[in-house]
Order: sequence, then C-alpha cells, then structure tokens
Amino acid sequence: MGAKDNKVRAEGLDTATGQPVQPIAGEANGRVPSLSGDVEAVRFATVLFADIVGSTRLISVLDPEDARDVLDSTISLIRKAIHDFDGMVVRVQGDGVMAVFGVHPAVEDHPLRAALAARAIVERMRSGPSGILPAPRARVGLHSGPILLRRQDNDFGSILDVVGHATHVAGQIEKLSPPASVAISATTVSLIAESCQLQPLGTITSEIDQRGEAVFELTAIDLEGGDRIPVKGNATSPLIGRDVELDAVKALVSGQAGAALCIVGEAGMGKSRLLLEGARLSAGFGVTTLVVRGNALLAPVPFGCLGGPVRHLMQLLQPLLADVASAAALTADQAECLQGLIDNGQKWLAHLAPGDRNRIATQTILRLLQLAVVHVPLLLLVDDGQYLDRESLSVLTGIRDGRIMTMLLAGRPEALTSLAQCCDQVMNLEPLGPRAARSLVAMINRFAPLDDDTIERILDRAQGLPLALQEFAVSAQGEDGTEPAELSARIPARLDALLGARLAALDDDATRLCQFCAALGPIFPVSRLQNGAALVCRNPSGAIARLVEARVVEFAVANQARFTHQLVQEAAYRTMPRRRRTMMHARALELLAAQASSSQEAEVASHAELATHAEKAGLPQRALGHLWDACQQALSLAAIDSVRQLYLRAREMAARLEPAAAAMERARFSLLAFDTLQQLSQEQITREDMALLAEGTVDMGPGIRTVARINMAVLDWIDGAPLQGEAWLARAEADLDAHDSLPRRTYADLVAAYLAFSQARPRAAIARIERLGNRLDDGQRGSTFGAVVVIPHVLARAFGAWYLTDLGEIAKARSWVAEALNLSRRYAHAYSRLLADLAHGYLHYREGRFERALGILRGAYADCLHHHFLGFEPASASWLALTLIELGQLHEAEAVLAESVARGHFRQVRTSATYYLHEARARLAMAQGKVVQAADLAAEALEHSRSCGEAMHELHALVLCREVEAHTGMAVWGAQDVPTADLVSRIDELGLACLQRRLVAIEDRIA
Ligand SMILES: Nc1ncnc2c1ncn2[C@@H]1O[C@H](COP(=O)(O)OP(=O)(O)OP(=O)(O)O)[C@@H](O)[C@H]1O
Ligand SMILES: [Mg+2]
Repeated sequence: MGAKDNKVRAEGLDTATGQPVQPIAGEANGRVPSLSGDVEAVRFATVLFADIVGSTRLISVLDPEDARDVLDSTISLIRKAIHDFDGMVVRVQGDGVMAVFGVHPAVEDHPLRAALAARAIVERMRSGPSGILPAPRARVGLHSGPILLRRQDNDFGSILDVVGHATHVAGQIEKLSPPASVAISATTVSLIAESCQLQPLGTITSEIDQRGEAVFELTAIDLEGGDRIPVKGNATSPLIGRDVELDAVKALVSGQAGAALCIVGEAGMGKSRLLLEGARLSAGFGVTTLVVRGNALLAPVPFGCLGGPVRHLMQLLQPLLADVASAAALTADQAECLQGLIDNGQKWLAHLAPGDRNRIATQTILRLLQLAVVHVPLLLLVDDGQYLDRESLSVLTGIRDGRIMTMLLAGRPEALTSLAQCCDQVMNLEPLGPRAARSLVAMINRFAPLDDDTIERILDRAQGLPLALQEFAVSAQGEDGTEPAELSARIPARLDALLGARLAALDDDATRLCQFCAALGPIFPVSRLQNGAALVCRNPSGAIARLVEARVVEFAVANQARFTHQLVQEAAYRTMPRRRRTMMHARALELLAAQASSSQEAEVASHAELATHAEKAGLPQRALGHLWDACQQALSLAAIDSVRQLYLRAREMAARLEPAAAAMERARFSLLAFDTLQQLSQEQITREDMALLAEGTVDMGPGIRTVARINMAVLDWIDGAPLQGEAWLARAEADLDAHDSLPRRTYADLVAAYLAFSQARPRAAIARIERLGNRLDDGQRGSTFGAVVVIPHVLARAFGAWYLTDLGEIAKARSWVAEALNLSRRYAHAYSRLLADLAHGYLHYREGRFERALGILRGAYADCLHHHFLGFEPASASWLALTLIELGQLHEAEAVLAESVARGHFRQVRTSATYYLHEARARLAMAQGKVVQAADLAAEALEHSRSCGEAMHELHALVLCREVEAHTGMAVWGAQDVPTADLVSRIDELGLACLQRRLVAIEDRIA
C-alpha cells in the first residue's frame, strides 16, 4: 500500500511508465526560483550529478563550433530529463550538471524521480540523434541526504547553491559510474519502494569520517514491481496487510516532534520493514533518518551501538557548522568525550570517576542530538532493540524525556520492557491474517501464479509470518515448465530447512565466504566482508557477487553489509560443520585483531567481539584476555550490567581451562566484578570464586587475600549469616594487624559497622564509623574505593546516620546526612547519593515529617530503579511505602510494595534493609484493617529477622508484633517467646529511641 500511495501522490508521474504526463515548471538553472521558504533550509533531498564522458576528446577531434554544439545539445538533453522528473538544475559547469530532487517542488518520492531521470539521461543519450561521432555518453551519480540550499549573491545577481556532505558523496558516486550508466548509493536505493535492478559497483569512503556507502549500478527500475526479487531482497514487494501499523508510523513521522513509537514482534514479523517504511516516509518530508541498531556482539559494550550514529551526526553537521563542539556549547569535558566517541577511543577523561564518565557520555550525546535537530530535521530509528546495552537505552530514555526528536523503535518481544521505558506507545505486530498472507504470496508469484495446493501448503507452513511467506513463495517459483506437482513438492517443511537449502546451493567459494560472514554476525562493515573474502576465497569479488545474487548478503547504508535476514545468518551458522565454525572464528579473530592493533579506523572490533571469536575459535585463554579488557572498559564507565554479562562469560570460559588456571581466572574476575554485582544484588554468584582467594587456594598476594576475606564477610552479611561474616572479618583484621593498609582498614571498618549493627550493637557500629572517618583526610573522604562503587566515607556516614536516627541522636544524624549528601553531590556519585538520600528520608520519616520524607524517598526509589541499584531496591521501596502509609496513601503504598515483591530482590538480599519490606507489608495490612493478614505478615517479619540472624531487627519485629496485637487483639505467632518486659528492658538498654516511642504509644494496651 505504501508504495502505491507514494506513487499516487507523485503528481505528474505516470505510475505505469514512469514518464512525466505534464509539462514541468520553470527553469531553475542556478537562478533563484520562487522558493523563498526553502532557501537556507536543510532538507533531505536526492542529488544527481551527470558528467559527459570524454568531452575533452570530443573537443580535440571536432571543430570548435561543432564541439560546442554537441556539448550544448547534450547538456540541454540532460537538463530536459531532469526537468521532466521535477528536478531542479542547480549548476552547470563545463560538461557537468548538478541537480536536486525533492526541494522544488517538494515531492515526496524524490529518490525515485531522480533515479528515473538518471535512467532517462543515459537512455536518451544512447538513442539521441547526435548524428556525429564520437557520440557523447554520460556518467550519472545519485545520492540522497540532507542538503543546505542557499542563495549566493555575486556580480551577476543571485544564484542558488547547494551545500552539504550529500552533494560531495553524490560527486564521488558519479565517478564510480561506468560510462553510459547510472551509479546509485545504497541510501537512495533503500528509499525507492519500486524494484530496482542493481549490480554492486563497490563502496566509497567519506574523507570526513571514514564512513562509507555501498554503490550500485542501476540498470533498470521496474515500476510494475519486478518479477524477481533483486539485490535488495528486503522490501521490494509492497507492504501488505499492515494498514493500521503503517498509519501509526505515518502519524508519528508527520506528527509533532518528540513522540516515540515502538514496534514489537517475533523474528521475521516485519519490524525492520516498517522502520524502512518510516524512513521512506520521512525522506519524503525532507527528514533525515539516523539509525541505531542493537547488535548481540556489542550488547555488553556500554554505548556500543551509538558510535556509528554519533559519527553519522558529525558528518551531517560538519558542512553546516565549523565547530560542532562549540555550537553545541559543550564543556571541555564533553568535547573530549565527543572526540573519544568519534575515534572509538577508550582513554578519554581517563582521570575521572567511572560514574562521571558515564554521565558525561550520556549528556554529550544528548547535547549533540539537541544541536543536530536545530539544523537538520531528524527521525531516529532504533532496530533490534533486544540487543541494546543499558547505557544506550538510557540515552534513548533521555531523548524521550527531553522530547529531543521523534523516535521509531523496534525489537523482539523480549525487548518490550526496556523499550517501553523510552516510548509513548507500543504496537504489537501479529502474524498476517489469511487474506493478507494470500495476497503476499500472490504478489510475489504474480507472473507465474501458483496452483491452489501449493498456495495452501505455503499458507499452512508460514503461519502468517511475512518472512516465511516471502521465502516459501520465492522458493516455489519454478523455472518455466515446472509441473505444479513438482512445485508443491519442493516446499520444505520449515523455514529454516528452506533457508538451509538455499545456502546449500552456493558454490564452494561463496559457501566459505557465507560461513565467514555468519561467524561475524548478522551485520558487519563492508570492509570486513572484503577482507574476509580475500582471506577465505579463491575469487573474492566473484564470491561476494554470488552471495548478493543469491540474496544471502546485501549492502546497507553507512558502509555496512548484512545478511538479508538474521534468520539467514542463523541458518548459515547452524549448518556449518563444527570444525569449519572454529576455523572461521579463528580467521575472524585474526583479521579483526590485526585491524584493532594497526588501523585508526572507527570500525575496530570491540574487546567483547574479539572475546566471542576467540571463545568460538577454541582459544579460552585469549578470550579471557579480551573479556578482561572489555570488563575494565565497562567498569571505567560504571556500566554495571555489562560487567555482569562479561563476568558470567568469563566464568564459562574459565571452565575450559585446567583447574588451577581456571581458579586463578575466576578469582581475578570475581574481584573485578564484586562491587558491581553488589549493586545488582547478584554478588552471591561470586562466592565460590571469592572463597578461592579468601581461603588462599588461589594466591594473588596478601593484600588481595585480605580484601577477599572482607568481601566474604559482606557476602555472608548480605546472605543473612552475620556471625559467619564476623568470623571472616576477624581473619581479615588479623591480616591487617600484620600488614596495615588504609583502604583495607577503611573497608574493614565499614563492614564491621554493618555487622555490629545487625548484631544489635549500635554503639559499636557508630564507633567504627567514627574511627573510619577520623583516619581519612579531606581528600580521601570523597575518593572511591574499589573500581566503581563505593565512596566508603559516604556510605559509612549514610549508614551511621540511619543508626543514629534509631538511637534518637538526631542532631548528629543530621550532620552526618548533610556530610553524606554534600560529598555524594560534589562527586556526582549516584550510588553514594542513593544511600545519602535514603538516610535523609529515613531521618524525616522517623521524626514524623512525612511530607518531607515522601519527596526524598520517592526520588530515591526512582533513582534506584533508574540506575539499576537493585541491592537497595527493597529498602527504597519499603521506606517509601512506610511513609505513604503514615500519610494515608494506601493505594500507592500497596502498589509500590506489590512491585517490589514481584521484582523479588528481597529474596536475594537478606540484610536489615530487607526486613523493612516485611514490616511495611504488615503495617499496610493493619492500616487497611486486614486483621488476619496483618498478624501473618508481622509473624513473617519476625521469622525473617530471625532467619537472617538479625538481632537488631528481631527487636523491631517484636515491637511490630506487639503493635499488631494491640491493634487487632490477635496474638502473633512466634512473638510470645520474648516476654514484653524483657523486650522493653532490652530496648531501653540499647537506647533504641525509635522503638521506645512505638512502645509508649501502645503502653496501655500491652501492659
Ligand atoms: N507486511 C508485509 N508485506 C510484505 N512483506 C513483508 C511484510 N512484512 C515483512 N515483510 C518482509 O518479510 C521479511 C522479514 O521482515 P523483517 O526483516 O522486517 O522482520 P523483522 O521483524 O525485522 O525480524 P527480526 O526480528 O529478525 O529483525 C522482509 O523481507 C520484509 O520485507
Ligand atoms: Mg529486523
């Protein structure tokens, strides 16, 4: 439907023949036509360059007069062809002509019109009545992109000029064209819905940023729809049965800037196809698209999929702005970061804390986008959202929150939750209905309609999946004279079998190249395809051509090549014999590693990718080396999710080594990952590896052993085994007595404070925190400890303020909160900031200033979810809920608690902080008058604190039970073990003011 629509809207174009049906408006020829509104505006347009081949020779063999006549008549033929398709001639220079399509008039199908004009030039010159020899021939080049149209005054009046990188690219493309033919860029091809016949010509590389474009020779355009699926493979048949979805895309593209729509669907359901329709539509509105694509190999690389788009943006902006950094008002740090992102470097702002680098990178990209949309109308397309890393996702969220630009996103169903966070509307793609499915098949086989049997079989096997329908329909296309019976017999039972069969038909050379590419993944830079072909094929260019011909590989924009569909890549990978697979990965590793060390190119492979190839090439030690580097890079950006993924992979890799080496690898990775995993409440997975170090089984020196022992104490504390934790800590402190170290002492004091408090020794906990603070000078108080996570002093002060609050020492608690807040703000350290905020909110809550507590705790809870600090999610949720209960906002409290229970982190974290989730649920039931439930939940809270060895919170739980009993008159199971008098005296003895207050309130009822 989309393609038809476009054609209809393209007034003046006969849709059957592509010939113009009406005379075309005024001559532009460099003179300014009436387009006041369009001048000095950036538009997405198609640029055509035409050059007369061999004009010098023409001149040398002809009489000057005759030569001039030939040139003039040729130029006017070219000009006429351009005008016939509504192009505007911008410049005629010597024997060359430059024209733009899509500006005046602002037709939506400018890529098609430009292509038709180009073909017309070549054909008319071939048949043109030149009469004299040698007949002139032309080269034509086409490219689409944003251009800036501006008026220039000179001695002869005003002329129009077109500037922009796109014009430069179009010029380069023209030079690749053989005489009497048309060269067209992949970008322009992708914007033409009609079927094009293409031959690969090569690629060009931009001087500005090393990005490239695949270039094709355009031999024909089939306005009726081709009878074969040509090079592009994807998206040549019209879009069928997606009217609603297409309307939504149209509404998005033509609607108010800043909206975001997400398309979710299974593999092959047509998501990428809808994005392509979005790109075509927006090109028609003069809007440029910027593409972000998730990639499984880059999923653990923070900001991994944004390097390309950032470089693309720079390329768009550079012709318009001399100094992008200053135009975007970037700070010095942001400018350095931008350069780092462009160069794909790792060392930018290396002196800063990881969290800061992360924040600066996000802000820099957002600033750049903000600047870009002022100068170039942009639509952001995000495909394969299931493979986006968390950092890239938070950039997308920033784009949505700031309404910076319109976004169209797509991903498989597993991406739903993460993508939903950065869009307004989610659209589910369902299988095509029987009618649409039938028309899709009929459309593909319209020149040789299939018999009913075959069609039924296709419909049955494809189950409405567009990719399957398309593939089955193409494969059922028989050569002339095939009997229907044979036709239906050759339809394999399943899509993957069909794809496998298609691959099996390739010759040896092409098969090897296909397998090499399959090892690279579904999409890769063209340079890797070419270098790989040189490495594994006898006839490299022949093999590439055959893969393209067989619809296995296609060229995409931005110098990328890819499998025609991810499922084709998967089939190629799956059907590859094991040994071959190992070899192909080894080749890929060899190639990419050489590139990584030698070239300055932006396309260097990341360590995460190299690790994958090493792993699959059977080189675990090498893979671990790359994983280590990748992990360090992720840590240097505080990308906690990436670290988790890399650590899990490292463990798998280590399992392939002999035991001693495996233990060593696992131990060193566990140290690197421990801090990070703690934020995700996943620290327990390091236990086994950490124990190797703590026990001394793996020896990495005494300092590391001590750290590992303290880590074990933390692991036990979090696991609800504080006594065991104290035993580890005692061993660590004995180490420290032998070899003192300030950072390790600091860490030990902090953990000792956690443990002492859980053992109901609050004074001892506070003494530890004081000792810790006294040892640090001003500079050290703000510095981080470990790779990413902790500013120990801030943590200590935040926890200490919590303890002091419970003891009723409010003035001191307040000053510690202030110190924690100031430091975490000054260092913009998000994790410390969360803890400082929590302590702050808790203080207000205990002091009865619920409104103030509410604002702070709401923010803390949101931050905790935003940054994925899951270790403190239970505490954040429950303190917020407790405050809401006090304010009578029971619905919200219920929702917050229900979400937290559903997330289930409280099951992994068994510290005092999780106790509050139970308490909050019991208090909510009490406030709702749910008597039995309140008693049950109070009993659960008690049981929880006991099972976690939490002596301190056992007291809290007992008081809660007394309150429930006082309110409901029901006895709480388990609470009777401790007589009220004992409870009161224990609380008095410890000076727990917060609990004393609670007891006073129910005094008369429990006496
Ligand atoms: N409604 C449709 N009409 C015609 N062709 C379609 C339609 N939907 C999809 N196709 C074609 O089916 C093939 C698969 O679609 P597409 O590549 O968009 O799938 P996808 O949802 O992006 O899958 P993946 O999750 O694997 O990326 C493409 O060649 C596409 O052009
Ligand atoms: Mg897709």
